[in-house]
Amino acid sequence: MSGRPPYSRGSDPATEALTVLGLETSCDETAAAVVRLSPDGRAEVLSSVVHSQIDDHAAYGGVVPEIAARSHVEAIDGVARRALAEAAVDWTAIDGVAATAGPGLIGGVMVGLSWAKGAALARNLPLVAVNHLEGHAVSARLTEPIAYPFLLLLVSGGHCQLLDVRGVGEVRRIGATIDDAAGEAFDKIAKSMGLGYPGGPALERAAAAGDAGRYELPRALLGRKDCDFSFSGLKTAAARIAQTLTTDQERADLAAAVQAAIVRQLVERSGRAMDGWAAQAGEAERVFVVAGGVAANRAVRAGLEQAAAKRGFRFLAPPLAYCTDNAAMIALAGAERLALGLTSGLDAPARPRWPLDEAAALADPMHVAGRKGAKA
Ligand code: KG4
Ligand code: ZN
Repeated sequence: MSGRPPYSRGSDPATEALTVLGLETSCDETAAAVVRLSPDGRAEVLSSVVHSQIDDHAAYGGVVPEIAARSHVEAIDGVARRALAEAAVDWTAIDGVAATAGPGLIGGVMVGLSWAKGAALARNLPLVAVNHLEGHAVSARLTEPIAYPFLLLLVSGGHCQLLDVRGVGEVRRIGATIDDAAGEAFDKIAKSMGLGYPGGPALERAAAAGDAGRYELPRALLGRKDCDFSFSGLKTAAARIAQTLTTDQERADLAAAVQAAIVRQLVERSGRAMDGWAAQAGEAERVFVVAGGVAANRAVRAGLEQAAAKRGFRFLAPPLAYCTDNAAMIALAGAERLALGLTSGLDAPARPRWPLDEAAALADPMHVAGRKGAKA
C-alpha cells in the first residue's frame, strides 16, 4: 500500500514533499486549503481559506441544509482559487486533490467532492475522498509533528467520540455519544436561553460572568464505567430552567452551570479513556489530543489539559482556526493517504454517514442506525 499512486504525475512521497489542495463543504463552511507534507511527516499550511455561511443561516437559528448546499455552489470556485493564490502555487505544483466525502449534509458534501473530481480529471491528478472525522483527527498534526498512536477526543457540533488513532485510516472507537453531540448541546441550550447563533461561543461568553453553582443540573450515565456520553438530559433540564430566567445574572449563572456540566462529562470520560489507553500503550508516548469545534472552548481545554497532566499525558489542542471546520485538515488527511497510495476512484460516493471505526459501528448498531449514528 505504499509508493507512488498509479496515475500521479507528481512528487515521490519517499523523497519529496507532497502538495495537496483540500476542500471542505460538509456543513456551513466552504473551505479550501493547500498543505505540503514532507517525507518526515511535517506539515506546512500554505493557505487556508474559510468562507463562513453563518450570516445565511443566522435568521433560522441553525444550519438549513438546502441553503448551505446552494451557498457552497456559489462560493466554491472563488474559495478554491483564493487558496491557490494565497499559497502562491499553480496547478503544476499540486500533487493531488482531496475533498470531504462525508459524513455531513449530503448536498454540501456533493458540491465539494464533485468539484474535486472535476479538478482531478481536468488536471490528471489523483483524488482522495477524505472522511471529515479523519480530518479532525489529524488537525493537531497541522502544527505539531505528533506520532501515531494517540488518544483523541473529537468534539464538534455533529460528533462526540473518543478514538484510539493508530495510524492513517486506522482508528478504534473507545466511546461515543448515545444521543446529542457536545457542540449540539451547546447550540441547542444556547438557543433555548435566547443566546443566539452559533450557540457554543455565545454560551461561553455568557458563562464568563456566571456562578456555576447556582443551578443543579443532572449528571448523565452515572454508575456506568464505559466512555460513552449523553447530553439529552442536560439539554432538557437546562431548557426547563431557561423558561424561568428573568435577569441577565440568572442567564449567566445557567450558562456557567451548563458549561461546567459539559466540561465535567468530557473530562470524566476522557480521564477514563486515558487510564484504559495507558494500561495497554506499552512504550508509546502518552498523547491526548482534543479536536473539533468544541475544543475552541477555553473551559473545555483547561479541564482536559488538567486531566491529561494528572495522568502523565502530553496534551495537544489545535490552534483555534483548525479546531472548527477547515480545509487544511482535509488537505493533510488527503496528503497522508496520498503518501501511502490510498487514492480514490472518480466514482467515490458522497456519504451522509460514514463512521470512522466502521467495525465498531457495525458491532454496536445503537451507534450506527437512526439519528444516533451520525453523532457517534
Ligand atoms: O467542528 P465544527 O466547526 O463543525 C462540526 O463538524 O460540527 O464544530 C462546530 C461546533 C458548534 O456546535 C459550535 O457551537 C461549537 O463547535 N463551538 C463551541 C465553541 N466554538 C465552537 N462550543 C463551545 N464553546 C466554544 N467556544
Ligand atoms: Zn467538523
